[in-house]
Amino acid sequence: MESEQKPLLEARNLRKEFGGLVAVEDVSISIRENSLHSIIGPNGAGKTTLFNMISGVLRPTKGQVIFMGRDITHLPIHRIAHLGIGRSFQITNIFPNLTVLENIRLAAQAMGKDNLRIFTSSNHFKKYLLKAEEVIDLVGLNGREQAFALNLSHGEKRKLEIAIMLASDPSLLLLDEPTAGMSSEQVPALLDIIKKIRGLGTKTIVLVEHRMDMVMSISDRITVMHLGNVLAEGTPQEISNTQSVQDAYLGALYGDITKKKEA
Ligand SMILES: Nc1ncnc2c1ncn2[C@@H]1O[C@H](COP(=O)(O)OP(=O)(O)O)[C@@H](O)[C@H]1O
Ligand SMILES: [Mg+2]
Repeated sequence: MESEQKPLLEARNLRKEFGGLVAVEDVSISIRENSLHSIIGPNGAGKTTLFNMISGVLRPTKGQVIFMGRDITHLPIHRIAHLGIGRSFQITNIFPNLTVLENIRLAAQAMGKDNLRIFTSSNHFKKYLLKAEEVIDLVGLNGREQAFALNLSHGEKRKLEIAIMLASDPSLLLLDEPTAGMSSEQVPALLDIIKKIRGLGTKTIVLVEHRMDMVMSISDRITVMHLGNVLAEGTPQEISNTQSVQDAYLGALYGDITKKKEA
């Protein structure tokens, strides 16, 4: 039964205050293994702050983060990354003066268990190279391996960002508005990548995204956040059928999603 499945990630009563401002008030969320779980909500709802608490960028004021049954709330960011939580940090972790291949291979190597050894066998380098090639293929950057990152288009940079994240083989991917700044014609390629990652059958994805048609079509579950709290949670069907969400929130913010689905 679905309900008996153990969650991969759990946030329990997470809260984050910045001085007097309560960015996340009391959020509990449970993410099933190998699912795609989207988090939607207006700007300022606390979505990014939630991601920051899960990935160790921010320490919660209250609450716990449980990953694979283990309390990771107080672990430093690199330990959390090593446990298998991948987080996109937009273009900040791309080295502009390295090629696409070098950027991805470095990311694979940085997470490898033998990166501190002085004598690293060529087998290990080969392993990272193979990983890089696999990931390049997955995001569709084939043919661009030798391009310098600084010469990539915006869309390609977003692909590289995802490739860098995938290179370390995380079991959980936190994607914060991956289509931000993309033109409409670049979105399907990204959607394809997300579908391919899902198709691997070994990755869990938490997606923060504003494009409702995309969220509705690919999510197993959706959590709606509003003013630092969870307003609703359910399947895309349940969310689009929740009158309170639709009236008070989705309708006003994103337009009528039921109409959009018919179009
Ligand atoms: N580092 C910070 N310092 C102070 N306030 C912050 C900080 N990060 C976020 N906030 C505030 O917390 C609230 C939630 O922000 P955020 O998590 O970025 O929302 P979302 O990602 O849903 O748009 C907003 O009011 C935002 O201004
Ligand atoms: Mg945000």
